[in-house]
Amino acid sequence: MSGAEPGMSLVAVLKGGRSLERQVSLKSGARVEDALRRRGHRVVAIDAGADLVRRLSEVAPDVAFVALHGRDGEDGTVQELLEVMGVPYTGSGVSACIRSSDKALAKHALRDRGIPTPDFFAFNETAFKTLGAGQALPAIEQRLEFPIVVKPASQGSALGIKFARTPADVPAALVAAFSYDRKVLLERYVAGRDLAVSILDGPAGPQPLPVVEAVPEQEDFYDFEARYEIGRTRFVCPAELDPELTAQAHEIALDTYRLLGCAGFARVDLMLEERTGELFVLELNPIPGLTETSLLPQAAEAAGIEFDELIGRIVDAATAPAPV
Ligand SMILES: Nc1ncnc2c1ncn2[C@@H]1O[C@H](COP(=O)(O)OP(=O)(O)O)[C@@H](O)[C@H]1O
Ligand SMILES: [Mg+2]
Repeated sequence: MSGAEPGMSLVAVLKGGRSLERQVSLKSGARVEDALRRRGHRVVAIDAGADLVRRLSEVAPDVAFVALHGRDGEDGTVQELLEVMGVPYTGSGVSACIRSSDKALAKHALRDRGIPTPDFFAFNETAFKTLGAGQALPAIEQRLEFPIVVKPASQGSALGIKFARTPADVPAALVAAFSYDRKVLLERYVAGRDLAVSILDGPAGPQPLPVVEAVPEQEDFYDFEARYEIGRTRFVCPAELDPELTAQAHEIALDTYRLLGCAGFARVDLMLEERTGELFVLELNPIPGLTETSLLPQAAEAAGIEFDELIGRIVDAATAPAPV
């Protein structure tokens, strides 16, 4: 790992893109740009589109701040291009992005390592179209019990996630999830509290930040709209948890971050099961939101790290691509 040049370096902020989380990314990017300017960097914003490679060669930044979420930006695609072009960039590398943005891949890795994640089955569309996977649904439903969570393997911000309460709900939930991705998960529903642990790299290695709890105010489900409309989800940070549970959440999040090979920063989403008091990892977001209402900035603030410092630390931890 080599740090990016501090001070007056030229930073290209990659934002927007064509993913479904474009609007969130534009907000994250704009905030990052302001913070970088305040810290004395020269900043060029690039909306990640068809001219991304050309723009990057023109701008020739010292470092790219990847403020993209979802497809292309968070799944290793843009990171692969930055590797090819030899531009150091913030956050996780290609392989960690690929592993974490595919929930099925990530959950298999977690399960193999013994890190708790809700039971699940994952299928490609071809399983239903050409192998009659529909016939296996009763067996799956019996193993997971209702309600069952149906979600696309990729995507964030709760897009395409449905809770099936009865067998009759499952086909429509599958169709909805398959409209987002060619691979979907059927996952055991964990009734309990919605927690997130953000991780920030530093000189002493990756550090877990205070736990954030998302408490839905009206809806019984924390959906896409609720997440970005202030007032519909209340965030509590630090979450009111026993110190022992907090330590456990930190440890599980850090194990997940290391297992997937992340760098710089990330956010791990967990459920704390009401009935058993056990923690389960839902997913790791390699590029969590950086908007006003996002969880990582809130967690950083609770740890005494202001937004500008947070952005500075993420840039300082940017890794140079391996020399070719
Ligand atoms: N297995 C589950 N049990 C209970 N709630 C879940 C489960 N999976 C997802 N959720 C709810 O949906 C939200 C989004 O799910 P998550 O897997 O983190 O996907 P996303 O990438 O959309 O954030 C979670 O924060 C949680 O509130
Ligand atoms: Mg999530």
